[in-house]
Amino acid sequence: MIDYSRFLSRAARGMQGSAIRRMGVLSTDRRDIISFAPGYPAADTFPWEDFREIAAELLSGRDGSVLQYGPTRGFRGLVDAVVDIVGARAIRATVPDIVITSGSQQGLDLVARVLIDPGDVVLVELPTYTGAITAFRNCQATLVGVRQEADGIDLDHLDDVIARERGNGKRVPFLYVVPNFQNPTGLLIGLDKRQRLLEWAARRDVLIVEDDPYGDLYFEDSASPADTRPLKADDRDGRVVYLSTFSKTLAPGYRVAWLVAPAEIATRFELAKQAADLCTGALDQRIVHEAWRRGVLAAQVPRLRAHYRDKRDAMTRALERELHALATWPQPRGGFFLWVTLPDGIDADAMVPRALDGGVIYVAGSAFYVEDGQRNTIRLAFSAADPVHIDEGIRRLARVIRDEPA
Ligand SMILES: Cc1ncc(COP(=O)(O)O)c(C=O)c1O
Repeated sequence: MIDYSRFLSRAARGMQGSAIRRMGVLSTDRRDIISFAPGYPAADTFPWEDFREIAAELLSGRDGSVLQYGPTRGFRGLVDAVVDIVGARAIRATVPDIVITSGSQQGLDLVARVLIDPGDVVLVELPTYTGAITAFRNCQATLVGVRQEADGIDLDHLDDVIARERGNGKRVPFLYVVPNFQNPTGLLIGLDKRQRLLEWAARRDVLIVEDDPYGDLYFEDSASPADTRPLKADDRDGRVVYLSTFSKTLAPGYRVAWLVAPAEIATRFELAKQAADLCTGALDQRIVHEAWRRGVLAAQVPRLRAHYRDKRDAMTRALERELHALATWPQPRGGFFLWVTLPDGIDADAMVPRALDGGVIYVAGSAFYVEDGQRNTIRLAFSAADPVHIDEGIRRLARVIRDEPA
């Protein structure tokens, strides 16, 4: 037997799989399990009919470019569409600032390749998105966490952390944040705090990587577009790299997303992307572009806000009924996730096999921490299951939690 570890790079030896993917595999093994693990959009919301028509027209063979290699930065029509889409979010972007990516996940990978040297410190929220953790760690960054408050990242702690790390001689190229309905906590950074965060970045001379997949999916009973104004909209001196995606509003299977960055950095992203995939899938971009041009996206987004708000309501109703004495959670004002804190003695990682036996699965909160985290937290995605299954899933989860040794 060959010992292949001898041939692996140091980075590859350190690579870790995503806890969320693992939970996804576990739950698809058994049909009777209700899964709140992956943050998948609801497949029954996809505009199938529109996609069918668009794909049939694009694949008629009249336009060879539909199946050709395209420019690394993306199909020009889609780049122009992104100028328009981010314009509606108050971001003034021009074509040289934009790169279309194969999902925002590729955007995070490009950010890592272009901005991180091995040993650099990257600042992240505690807890934070696992996909960012893996992308940054693959480039051998040390991730250092910053606490969150009810209105998002704790600015005092942030400043202490950067002072400490730089005091220790570390290079800190950027802070990674998900300001809108954060994955995993569902939290929203307050408007005043957004301004102060930009001022902080200027004072400390650091970049901000702003990841915004959920900003359009605010729930109208408790949030408005003003609450989700991107940091990038007020980025006067070009410190923010902004990522967003069509995954949550059209469909994640297309793997079409984008980056907006200062033009000089966008050029570096383009070079890194050439090595990764030459270009994002041409057909996918064209379908997404047509869906935008024909108004499918514009019609879809308000429907999704109502759809996911109803599911949030179904889940919080069930949680209130089953767990109000045992658990706490911030009420999400948008997005896909509920972040639940269980009684102190409960270990959500150790509870996973018992939850599976009980017919339900979640992601243990520890997956989202870059340092020892609260082991009594779980992330529940309310996006994919229907309200009846949400209700039954929470009933099952509550039974498991009540039987746990505390
Ligand atoms: C915060 C965050 N960033 C990035 C992504 C990845 O999105 P995409 O499907 O565009 O790769 C997700 C998906 O769940 C996410 O929650």
